[in-house]
Amino acid sequence: MEKGKDDRLRELRKLIRDHDEKYYRDANPSIGDQEYDLLKRELEGLEEEIDPLGLFKTDGSPSGVGEESMPQVGDDRLEAFASHQHLLPMLSLDNTYDEAEFFDFDQRLKKLFDHSDLPYVVEPKIDGVAVSLTYLNGTLETAVTRGNGVEGDVITQNLRHVDSLPFDLSHLDLPEVLEIRGEIYMSHEEFTRLNENRAQEGLPLYANPRNLAAGTVKLLDPKEAASRKLEIVLYGMGACTPESRFANQSEFHRAIREWNLPTVEFLQSVPSASAAWKAIEELDQLRHGYGYPTDGAVVKLDSFEMQRIAGNTAKAPRWAIAYKFESERQETFLEEIALQVGRTGAITPVACLSPVQLAGTTVSRASLHNADEIMRKDIRVGDFVIVEKAGEIIPQVIESVPAKRKPQSVPFEFPSDCPVCSTVLIREEGESAWRCPNSTCPEQVKGRLRYFASRNCMDVDHLGEAVIDQLVDKEKVRMASDLYELSKEDFLELEGFAGKSAENLVESIEQSKQAGLGRLLCALGIKHVGSSVAKELARRFSSLAELGKASQEDLVGMDGIGAVMAESISDYFNDPDTQSMVEKLELAGVVTTRPEIDSKDLPFSGQSFVLTGTLETFSRLEATRMIEEKGGKVSSGVSKKTSLVVAGPGAGSKLTKAQSLGVEVMTEDEFVSLLENS
Ligand code: IVH
Repeated sequence: MEKGKDDRLRELRKLIRDHDEKYYRDANPSIGDQEYDLLKRELEGLEEEIDPLGLFKTDGSPSGVGEESMPQVGDDRLEAFASHQHLLPMLSLDNTYDEAEFFDFDQRLKKLFDHSDLPYVVEPKIDGVAVSLTYLNGTLETAVTRGNGVEGDVITQNLRHVDSLPFDLSHLDLPEVLEIRGEIYMSHEEFTRLNENRAQEGLPLYANPRNLAAGTVKLLDPKEAASRKLEIVLYGMGACTPESRFANQSEFHRAIREWNLPTVEFLQSVPSASAAWKAIEELDQLRHGYGYPTDGAVVKLDSFEMQRIAGNTAKAPRWAIAYKFESERQETFLEEIALQVGRTGAITPVACLSPVQLAGTTVSRASLHNADEIMRKDIRVGDFVIVEKAGEIIPQVIESVPAKRKPQSVPFEFPSDCPVCSTVLIREEGESAWRCPNSTCPEQVKGRLRYFASRNCMDVDHLGEAVIDQLVDKEKVRMASDLYELSKEDFLELEGFAGKSAENLVESIEQSKQAGLGRLLCALGIKHVGSSVAKELARRFSSLAELGKASQEDLVGMDGIGAVMAESISDYFNDPDTQSMVEKLELAGVVTTRPEIDSKDLPFSGQSFVLTGTLETFSRLEATRMIEEKGGKVSSGVSKKTSLVVAGPGAGSKLTKAQSLGVEVMTEDEFVSLLENS
């Protein structure tokens, strides 16, 4: 074997293995799909050249007896999940970006079937997380990831909240055993919503909806999974018993649509490859209107019998191909790399670009992630760069075009000092972002105030960015509590203010005092505490002062609060600056306590509940909290006084006792709807 090729082969295998690991196991890929596909291509080409008989497999190990049936599809399995073996393996798809290669695929198949035109179906290729659902006599038994193609992780619990996915179809005429294949995905709206929460909590943003969906199905806490809305779309058939119920893909598609299962809205049956090509082009026009992200079209032989004859390779069926659409990329000029200082001090590099049209919008700023990424990709100010919309949302700089680089260009040097206050930047272990450690850095102060006044927090009308900038620059405000000391005259000194607008602002600041404990807790911008945690804290603690006294141990026991968050909350309140601010807020008359609720008016008041058996939708602690919130009590033993027993699977003596006493018993699902309706 030639030395250079051998090295490259090794290098490619390692690269691909690393990328696979990041993509499948960590759901956190480090390169784009197209870049990955190119590496795969190069590897396949080299392997064929060096090893034409295929004695060595793509992972570099010699192929052993009995291993031929192992699909080559990566592996997403994690230790913590139960495994489930697929009745039929889950394969991957061969893909191409090239029209000629699509027609080659058709030519190969035609040779198998006496050279006549072949009937195909064309469907969207959904860019989600592959899943296999097993329905037994119409009841969804398991939802499983692809895993290594032979067996995957059981993620049924994490799909319980997917609204469009029926678990019980036993009233319909499904085959006894049916594996249905599909993709789990996250809508753009949900992705944006969750990222807005992340931003509020001062946490790094999720990269794209696909990875977030992949991470969500693998959460160990189904409750946490339920807080991120997933969706599903189904397209394929795995095993089916009894067999031969469906003759082709179009019939199967019709059946799942009739059963009210969520499926693709575009499925064209066509008589030939050239008609399939037209359908692909049509699909490319329509796909942006679909609820799920798509990155291509899948063309399949329609007939199941013909699929069987064509068969599979170790990796993919021979009867199907994915034609991938070019992701939308554009070349433009990188005018500047701006460094933004966030309210937590994190420095984010942002590319300032000559405006360019990308997937229907004008893009002039794009993400550069962090200092390491800029170095790794050697992106320089004055370069021409390629920008792409990742997951069709946030534009990103993919690479620069070195061929167009001017000779005098120099590598970008990430500053060692804060661009605003010149404090030396620090980077904590394990973090990718550099931070300005100076909490009085004017940009951080402005960021915190913007956040404090924002709609989800204290919602101070008219207190926008321009006003905050002036207040800080003129040193009228250093922290949120200073806002409450401002008078009309202070505003009149600022640019753009007249009598009325100054009065309005004073009035909205005054009103914000009544925002309430939950909003105030969110507005303080404590690291890791976003609006949902803030609400939870406001339910548990009656005032800011009480929370300030809570120890880390008190906090860790609470639902949704882990050690990291507890530490951050306790550090925040132990800081003397916080203490003086809290005091000032109280003195200014900002509401820092929770209003008392009269429990007599609540729907469950005076009622006593018993929980028994395994609860699947939520933890016992959480169920207890919800009952208490509605004024009810939870006790451990069943008596005549018990109003209701909630019995999950495995309920024993308490259930029997309730039945003998004639106490009302509900399943968990019934209880959930009671909670929702009361
Ligand atoms: S058919 C035997 N149809 O893309 C494999 N797959 O990159 C047949 N995918 O593993 C799969 N949309 O997870 C099929 N309309 C579609 C699809 C689709 C997305 C996924 C699937 C597959 C992967 C390959």
